[in-house]
Amino acid sequence: MGKDAYSENVLILDFGSQYTQLIARRVRESKVYCEIHPFNLPMEAIKAYRPRGIILSGGPSSIYDKNAPMASGDVLSLRVPVLGICYGMQFLTHMLGGSVGYAPDREYGSAMISVQEGGDLFEGLEGLEQQPVWMSHGDRIDRMPDGFRILASSRNSPIAAMAHVTKKLYGVQFHPEVAHTPEGKRIFKNFLFRICGCKPVWTMTSFVRRTTKRLREEIGDKERVICGLSGGVDSSVTALLLHRAIGDRLSCIFVDNGLLRHGEAEEVSRTFKEYYGMDFHLVDASDVFLENLRGVVEPEEKRKIIGREFIRVFEAKARELGNVKYLAQGTLYPDVIESVSFKGPSSVIKSHHNVGGLPEIMNLRLIEPLRELFKDEVREVGIELDLPREMVLRQPFPGPGLAIRVLGEVTVERLNILRAADLIVQEEIFTAGLYEKVWQSFAVLLPVRTVGVMGDERTYENVIAVRVVDSLDAMTADWSRVPYTVLGRISNRIINSVNGVNRVVYDISSKPPGTIEWE
Ligand code: XMP
Repeated sequence: MGKDAYSENVLILDFGSQYTQLIARRVRESKVYCEIHPFNLPMEAIKAYRPRGIILSGGPSSIYDKNAPMASGDVLSLRVPVLGICYGMQFLTHMLGGSVGYAPDREYGSAMISVQEGGDLFEGLEGLEQQPVWMSHGDRIDRMPDGFRILASSRNSPIAAMAHVTKKLYGVQFHPEVAHTPEGKRIFKNFLFRICGCKPVWTMTSFVRRTTKRLREEIGDKERVICGLSGGVDSSVTALLLHRAIGDRLSCIFVDNGLLRHGEAEEVSRTFKEYYGMDFHLVDASDVFLENLRGVVEPEEKRKIIGREFIRVFEAKARELGNVKYLAQGTLYPDVIESVSFKGPSSVIKSHHNVGGLPEIMNLRLIEPLRELFKDEVREVGIELDLPREMVLRQPFPGPGLAIRVLGEVTVERLNILRAADLIVQEEIFTAGLYEKVWQSFAVLLPVRTVGVMGDERTYENVIAVRVVDSLDAMTADWSRVPYTVLGRISNRIINSVNGVNRVVYDISSKPPGTIEWE
């Protein structure tokens, strides 16, 4: 990709919409690099970025609110094409002397627009005249700024899309970035390629080439790097990239905390040590973790103990390896945006994802080769680097592991019961072809015992809850409508083959108000 992929870039100014990341995803899917920055990014920074196009996101405010977010009006006179979406369109109108008013009816949900003038933005849309789109706005454009033309109207928004063709300024009242606007992708492509003149050069093949080169330059030819591997896709891809860049000067540490699923340590070890031939260190610290968790039932306390112990074990191993200058971490773009965006730190950032505090304690410099990528891009890089498909498509697994799925006290015996039941859930979900369709599927061991009969005998044993959820980002989730036959097989196999379990229940709570994990 050389310089091009980053010079063919688009800047997204975030006015606080819940959909801003989706805009970035649509742009990246079109193979154009883009970055999200807060709406008040200084003009010098915007110019230095040299964008080919600028997209103004939507946002929850009304342009007339006292604290409405305002970007500098100068972004509209850079001679760079601009697409304002919803609030972004209202901002553009307001800055250029048009007028924004309250819509008589708030428009929320699906709407039809009739396209009056195709032009570049709507070129080639399927069923051109009538387009289903997704609306979510209270205000609307009453009068366009001078030189603008109406491109499309809806029942509640006579000016649903508008353009100043020669200045290449565009506004849409609807949200082309959401899936409910079926032709949204085409609209973005038109903006990027026809209007901004971008080239589709952002590919993961070129990302890998460029990043390995950059990592080599950054690390030099002597220094050593350590990386904490969890077996999850982010840390795995981070390790593979570094391995490709610096080979044996990367040491990977995998901590077996005794809270892993069946066969997990062996699988990770096989992949990285045997298949890739990396400098891979498995540290079996299960005794220490379980000792520290003895008698602990409170979920947050479990998390704290596991986090603290992890750092201790990791640090000891890293010191033993010696002479290390860098720590590699699988931080992704959504985490980066969360910390700079105007919304402030979000609750999705979880301390267990990284070895918090370690860089300072050990005086290590951080390397985060995935900082620019979304999760689906990381998966593509994984495929590029020949990571086995099972690992690329792995469901998320929480840092504190099975400790937060054995409700109540965590003991070896209870962990073993859960592991055996969880393996059956995984196998059946996999066999039913559901593993890649659902967000997560797992078993939970409840801290109650119930009465049952087995043969002629009365039993008084444990309950396993099965949790399977659909989700896009773990922020919200719904219980999966797993077919009864699959649930039936899971239940039968667990009750028949896992000693100590006589009842299986299925969790039908959504998030919110429930959470995905039980603790
Ligand atoms: P909840 O239970 O909050 O989970 O709905 C949302 C997502 O986060 C995972 N999760 C964690 N991940 N450390 C982690 O690394 C944690 O302490 C933790 N708690 C929950 C959970 O598996 C789900 O994907």
